[in-house]
Parts: sequence; C-alpha cells; structure tokens
Amino acid sequence: MAVIFKVRGTRDLLPPETYLWNIVEQAARSVFSRYGFGEIRTPIFEDTQLFARSVGEDTDIVTKEMYTWEDRARAESERAQSLTLRPENTAGVVRAFIEHKLNETGMLQKMFYIGPQFRRERPQRGRYRQFWQIGAEVLGPPWSGAESPLRDAELLEMLSSLLNELGVRGWRLELNSIGSATDRPRYIAALREALAPIKSRLCEDNRRRADTNPLRVLDSKVSEDQVLINTLPSIADFLDEESTEHFKQVLEALDASGVPYHLNPRLVRGLDYYTRTTFEFTVPDGSGLGTQNALLGGGRYDGLSEILGGPKAPGIGFAIGEDRLILTLQAQAEMDNAISDRKLDAFIAPMGIAQNAAALALAKELRAQGLSIELGDGMFRLRKSFETADKLAHRMVIVGEDEVKSDIFTIKHFAAGEQSKVPRTELAASLRGSVLSPT
Ligand code: HAM
Repeated sequence: MAVIFKVRGTRDLLPPETYLWNIVEQAARSVFSRYGFGEIRTPIFEDTQLFARSVGEDTDIVTKEMYTWEDRARAESERAQSLTLRPENTAGVVRAFIEHKLNETGMLQKMFYIGPQFRRERPQRGRYRQFWQIGAEVLGPPWSGAESPLRDAELLEMLSSLLNELGVRGWRLELNSIGSATDRPRYIAALREALAPIKSRLCEDNRRRADTNPLRVLDSKVSEDQVLINTLPSIADFLDEESTEHFKQVLEALDASGVPYHLNPRLVRGLDYYTRTTFEFTVPDGSGLGTQNALLGGGRYDGLSEILGGPKAPGIGFAIGEDRLILTLQAQAEMDNAISDRKLDAFIAPMGIAQNAAALALAKELRAQGLSIELGDGMFRLRKSFETADKLAHRMVIVGEDEVKSDIFTIKHFAAGEQSKVPRTELAASLRGSVLSPT
C-alpha cells in the first residue's frame, strides 16, 4: 500500500522538539499573566466575510492565500455558507469582542491566544501553510484608555521582555506610524502620483502593485528597485497632528523604559486594518529564518471594530510566528541544553518477569510523588535495560528479587558513574534532580 504523507506546507512537531514549544508557550503565558492578559480561544474557521472585511479584499491573504470552502446546508433549517480557515486571529478576537458585547463592560480587554493559522503561501523555511501564532490584543471603548500611546509602548515593552527572557539574541524592533484612516488615503494618492512616472522602470511585480495596492511597493525586497523606491514620499510627512503627537508619545514612553527601536517609514504591513503604530521584530541573518526574518508583527487597528459592525473600540495587538521563534532559538542554540537535559528522573528496571508487577507498583508510587519515570520490562536483558535507561533517564532503579524482598533498591546514577542502595522510603528524595547526592 502506498504511504500517505503530510500535506505540503504542514509540519509534524515531535518530541523532543515539542519540549521547546512547551517552554516557549509557558514563558509566554507567564509573561502575559504578569501584564494582566487572559486567554481567548476563537474558532479555527469563521465566516469568510470576516477576513474579507478586516484583513482587506485586495490583500495577498484574502485574494490568494485563504483556505475557503462552501459549507453545504445539511438541513432545510441551515443555509449554505462560505467558510474560511483563519489566516490570522485578530479578526476572530474582534468579532468575539463585538459578539459578547465586551465593550459594555467599559473595561480595557487584554486577551492572548496561542494556536494554528492557515495561509496558502509558497512553503519555505520559516513559512508554512499551517503555522502557529502566539498573539495578544488590547482593545476597549475609548474611555477605557485603549487609544492611549501608553498601551502601544507597554505592549512593545512586554514583547522585548519576553524575547529577552527566552534568550533571543539580536532582535530588532522596526517601528512606524501609518497614520489614521484619513491620513492613509492622502498618502496612497501621493504614492500613486509619485509612482506613475517611474512605474515602467520597476519589476513586473512592483508595476502590478503600483496599480492595485501601492503601499505594497514599499515592502518590496527586490534589490534593483530599491533606489527608486527610496525616492517615494514618506508616510511620516502625511500624518495629521493627532497621529504625529500619538506616535511621539509612544516613542517617549519607549525611551523612558529603555526599549530600543528603529524607525522604518517603509513598514506598512500586509493587512488593511492597521492605523497609526505598526511594528515588526526581526532577527539578524544566521538566526535560522533565511529570508523570513520577521519574528512577529503587529500594530494598532482603531477602526476595526466599526468595520466589523461593532462599536468604536480602538485596539492594538501583535502575533509572534511561533515556528519562526522556535527556529531562531534552535539556531541561536540557547535552548539546546534545555532539550538535551530533558531526561526523566529514573528508569525502573525489573530484573525478570516475576518483578514486573512490583516494578509497576513502585513506578506508580514515585510518579505520585511528582517524579518522571519510565518503566522497563523483565524480559529485557540487563544490558538492554542499561542502554535504554542511559538514553532516557538520569538514573536507573534496579528491581530484582532481593530488592523486592528487602525494600532496599539499587540506584545507578549515570553521569556520576555511581551506584548506591536506598530504602524505599528514601527513594523519591534521592531520585530528584540530576545531581547525585549519594546516601
Ligand atoms: P502577520 O504579520 O500577518 O500579522 O503575522 C504575524 C507573524 O506570523 C509574522 O511576523 C510571522 O512571524 C508569522 N507568520 C505569518 N505567516 C506565516 C507563515 N506562512 N508561516 C510561518 N509564520 C508566519 C498578523 O497575523 C496580525 N494578526 C498580527 C496582529 C495582531 N496585529 C494586530 N494584532
């Protein structure tokens, strides 16, 4: 029979690598809770219109990357509906915010999520069709303080703390303000005007973008086009007074808390809902991401709730590409030790079939005391028990006929190359930790 393989652009995450994923998620949860965020879980598929309206009809995501299908009605009471696997999670969070009338609490809502997203992109290192995001959103009615520049700075400070805590080296915060919903059309008009006479000298992709979505030209990495792109007007010159002042206050708060940033007027991001502050954190070349060097991205979306038919509820958020964060940590080798240290506390080795039952009882007892235990089998030869135990655990507990009778067990500690005899009552204590304290 032919073997069935995973679908292109998807990944199997296996132990011990998943241990690193667990560490990252635990660190994120711990940081989020210190900053007052609670977890939200929204559905993995939603009404297609949700993404069309929020992410934007003309974006790459909506025009070519979504997994969309017509969900047939199964009964007369149901209607057929176009559904889409979520390509991102901000739209779902804002939909839930509106649906559950969270605005009426009058309080700032701070929510985080960890979960898979789906985009039909061309797969390459750091870019997958199913990928994971760790994200957070802060939103609420204007009187909750959701619009304050302090929210932007606090979120960015939280991200810098999280990346530092995880040991990501050389991260760089790229920051921009793309202005309000009224600044942007003025800027796009100026861009179109500036692009018209030079368009023909750009590559084919950029020529197309100049017509369909001129902001995307600024994102272009095509080296031959850079000289021309650098002559285009800068969004900074099109911000109204309010957006300028807002951005100034974001920068002041970042300076005060010592978060380093680089202003990048070309950072416009690929989703339509953004207003004012936009940002990305990148990592240096050689951090395992190849050309996909954006570890995370985010920004403000002050009009999104209204675009989705909800109340005025400004907000800001981000999403970390978890796959990319893991690749970076692996490349930067910070976490290698954590993985190789990931051994169980003990391997219990019954010396014969007759000791299997006693070994299981002992394993249960030790696991109940919080120890991580793997259980061998009385059928194993002694050498096989030794080899398996050495691979999996810090120590081996030998359960032979004498041990069962006397309730005194022989422990072999591999790293120390020592052996000792320990009474059952003291066993748990002497198996804890990776360093031997011989009894
Ligand atoms: P985004 O920039 O589209 O923003 O995605 C955020 C991050 O997800 C990227 O920086 C990248 O690390 C990761 N990512 C995106 N696509 C892929 C892929 N195909 N494979 C692997 N990783 C990927 C958003 O999604 C916004 N919802 C972020 C946000 C939240 N803005 C406000 N709140």
